[in-house]
Amino acid sequence: MHSSVQWDVIIVGAGPIGLSTAWHYAKENNHHKILVLDQYSLLTQLVGTSGEERHWRLQYSELEIFRLTLEADKLWRELERQADRKLIHRIGSLWFGDADVWTNEGQIRQTMVSMDAMDLPYERLTMQDIERRYGFVGLDPNYEGFIQHDGGVIDVKGTLSTLYSLASEAGATFRFQQPISAIEPDDNGVTVIASDQQYRARKVLIASGPGSKALLAPLNIELALSTFEMACISMLRSQRLEARDPFWFAFQPPVSSDSNLFYGFPPNPWSVNGFDRLGTDFEVDPITEEHGASYCANPQHVERALEFARRHMPFLEPDRQHSASSCLAVLPNDSSRQFYLDNAKGRCHGGENLVISAGGWAFKFTPLMGKICADLLADRQPRWDISALRF
Ligand code: BEZ
Repeated sequence: MHSSVQWDVIIVGAGPIGLSTAWHYAKENNHHKILVLDQYSLLTQLVGTSGEERHWRLQYSELEIFRLTLEADKLWRELERQADRKLIHRIGSLWFGDADVWTNEGQIRQTMVSMDAMDLPYERLTMQDIERRYGFVGLDPNYEGFIQHDGGVIDVKGTLSTLYSLASEAGATFRFQQPISAIEPDDNGVTVIASDQQYRARKVLIASGPGSKALLAPLNIELALSTFEMACISMLRSQRLEARDPFWFAFQPPVSSDSNLFYGFPPNPWSVNGFDRLGTDFEVDPITEEHGASYCANPQHVERALEFARRHMPFLEPDRQHSASSCLAVLPNDSSRQFYLDNAKGRCHGGENLVISAGGWAFKFTPLMGKICADLLADRQPRWDISALRF
């Protein structure tokens, strides 16, 4: 069935980037018809570090991405003012470990050089500082790190519901439970084929996380992305530490089984249940057509995280009670890049009518990437240098 409406813009994916784009585009293009489609319902979360919060950080090893986080910071503050609610809780971002190990999240030593270059204040910490202040034990004596106090955690549901309300108020239309089977761009616009409807728009944004790859393959657009299923474990605290604890990320040299990277969220400032969440950042066993997502935490990865907690986090109770879940991470294969966001001009017939945002740990860029996508959909040069994001 054909929808008789000719939309100005269709956004495929009502995740953070899709919602943010809908709001910015609707705000900046009065009277345009904007439709947001999603195969699931609002607030379905398959991608990211799962749970109630995401890491907020300003620091990056790569200066071109670092500059973008500083811009994103201004837009988060603007969004918080607009919504009259706090979305980022600045409890700090603690990085520790082997300062020389390079990972997909960057490198501690290079990130300190970058923070110096960008004049971003941070406190450098020895292994003893980290153990004394934050309660870790048994860390490698050569470990060091820093705390960046403007970092912290983003309220996921608060952000998504805020953007949904703002986009709806600005006039965007939403349709959920609409799996998309094909996107067909041409010289005059794009046809979007859903299970029981065909939609037509002048421009389309694809921001549908792990689903993007399958939509792009028939257009011969292959982004070098892999999807991994990562484990996240919630556990109770046996002691309350005195200070408000930061988000932390442990940079460690890889071991034979995995990349040996762990991160943790303390009980978040707006929750009542007081669970810590400990995650594995293991880029192993990418999801393929033959080996799909199980949506179950890999038991070996759960055991690795529990072992990390037993050895280094005596304030947790990994063996009393824990619950494990999994989340998907769609990440560029090239570890020197973090995201893909660009117009598909020249990549397929009608590509000038398609914008694609795919890959990376992008939640922290939600307001900025929404604005960039809105610019690209309006055929405007983005207001920021996005050469590090283009494909
Ligand atoms: C990030 O800040 O980008 C990040 C945090 C936790 C796991 C992976 C990535």
